[in-house]
Amino acid sequence: MEAKVAPLRQRSAWKALEEHYQKLRNVHLSTLFSEDPRRGERFAAEAAGLYLDYSKHRITGETMRLLLGLAEEAGLRARIGAMFAGEQINVTERRAVLHVALRAPRGASIMAGGKNVVPEVHAVLDRMADFARRLRGGAWTGHTGKRIRNVINVGIGGSDLGPVMAYEALRHYSDRNLTVRFVSNVDGTDFAEATHGLDPAETLFIICSKTFTTLETMTNAQSARKWSLEALGDERAVAKHFVAVSTNAAEVAKFGIDSQNMFGFWDWVGGRYSMDSAIGLSTMIAVGPEHFRAMLDGFHAIDEHFRTTPLERNLPVIMGMLAIWYNDFFGAQTVGVFPYEQYLKRFPAYLQQLTMESNGKHVTLDGAAVDYQTGPIFWGEPGTNGQHSFYQLIHQGTKLIPCDFIAFCQALNPLGRHHDMLIANVIAQGEALAFGKTAEQVKAEGTPDWLVPHRVFEGNRPSTTILAGQLTPATLGKLVALYEHSVFTQGAIWGIDSFDQWGVELGKVLAQRIIPELESPAEPQLKHDSSTNGLIRRYREHRKKTG
Ligand code: F6P
Repeated sequence: MEAKVAPLRQRSAWKALEEHYQKLRNVHLSTLFSEDPRRGERFAAEAAGLYLDYSKHRITGETMRLLLGLAEEAGLRARIGAMFAGEQINVTERRAVLHVALRAPRGASIMAGGKNVVPEVHAVLDRMADFARRLRGGAWTGHTGKRIRNVINVGIGGSDLGPVMAYEALRHYSDRNLTVRFVSNVDGTDFAEATHGLDPAETLFIICSKTFTTLETMTNAQSARKWSLEALGDERAVAKHFVAVSTNAAEVAKFGIDSQNMFGFWDWVGGRYSMDSAIGLSTMIAVGPEHFRAMLDGFHAIDEHFRTTPLERNLPVIMGMLAIWYNDFFGAQTVGVFPYEQYLKRFPAYLQQLTMESNGKHVTLDGAAVDYQTGPIFWGEPGTNGQHSFYQLIHQGTKLIPCDFIAFCQALNPLGRHHDMLIANVIAQGEALAFGKTAEQVKAEGTPDWLVPHRVFEGNRPSTTILAGQLTPATLGKLVALYEHSVFTQGAIWGIDSFDQWGVELGKVLAQRIIPELESPAEPQLKHDSSTNGLIRRYREHRKKTG
């Protein structure tokens, strides 16, 4: 029997942090920097070519010591070990959590349920690579013999956000002769727009769904089937225009996709941790198997860093513990993520599922209600666009928003001075947020007294800057793994299950009940609350009028 650990807020490390917070809460970053001329180097760490500058955080050496003490007291090292050992750390679903096995090198050994899963992972990767090569090279043709020029990924949540994000992120490396599109929403507009202008004879659908029962994906898959078959006029066309990625072979077969055209993965891969499994087939088709494997190597480099590096130099641990510091001690509600790289425009959306579906939990592993805040809200847009929209609130609003800035030293599309300007902006934002501008400085510029308060920047607003060489497939893998393990770290401290998602169930069940109430020709007996009943009636009346 494991010794029962005290609830989080009663642990000595937590209490020490509470006290420390009282001392530090009003200390300005300007003071911290002037007290320590080498602060910028002291609070920086590097791994696998990712440089993490966390010096513009409201921390001292003592803060980090206490945060890492909390991590030790929460048993973070043992939790990391348990994940890599294939233990069922997703307790509510009784599953191992082994996305790290998806990027383990051939020949490695990672056990789940008494079996080394790495050979199976590579067997699927090899089949994916073979398929991707045939499709990219024109050997895999459509039903009429025409070359496939369009690939549409149909999936939602983790079966969409990872693939879209990776496709956008790696577009520079993609085959520009292929059109790659994504359908996720059950809103018919998504399907209509994704197929607009495409020839069904040249279009392949990848139906991505871990469960192969998700309403949105199955509805879109049926519409895709209809769209293809109406044009191609032959059931046999399905074999050439549909492939599936799933863990549910029985449902895939029911849909009519041959098991030869199915790429599997495993219940130990969570949906939001699956972009490097067969769910990444569209990515592999777009960028080619070599680039895909380079991305996996990038993931693996950070996995190894996370597994083996002492906590004080461990990038995901540092990021995760800083997230705890602001979320639980400063009361910050959100984290802004701002990639200064246009190709990462979908990265914040991807992170939203990764972070919020993982750590949006209200009970601990043993079912006790938490009495502290868990997962913060993640949001963001690429820089510099955000600067001309919502940064005002970050600089001068009343909320504390820790920011992650992500930037690359080398441009993928060098164009005059553009890249220097981009990087000057990201560096300037961190500086402005941290140090601000005092009333004296504003006055000294000749600002009239009445305008001074409006032009003052308080500063003391924290940010992390992640700086890497260039956005390559490997760098992308490293970045994603960095956030995955930061999420893991936070979940381990909060003592929650970061790998289930029961919170999405209720809405799904209620929607299933409401669908027939919207569609039935006879007036349904509505037994919801008065608001829900009223909305259903209004929709039905409108539907009656418009047909
Ligand atoms: O409803 C949430 C969710 O289960 C996500 O966790 C998942 O990524 C998404 O739906 C899609 O699920 P599937 O891949 O099984 O269609």
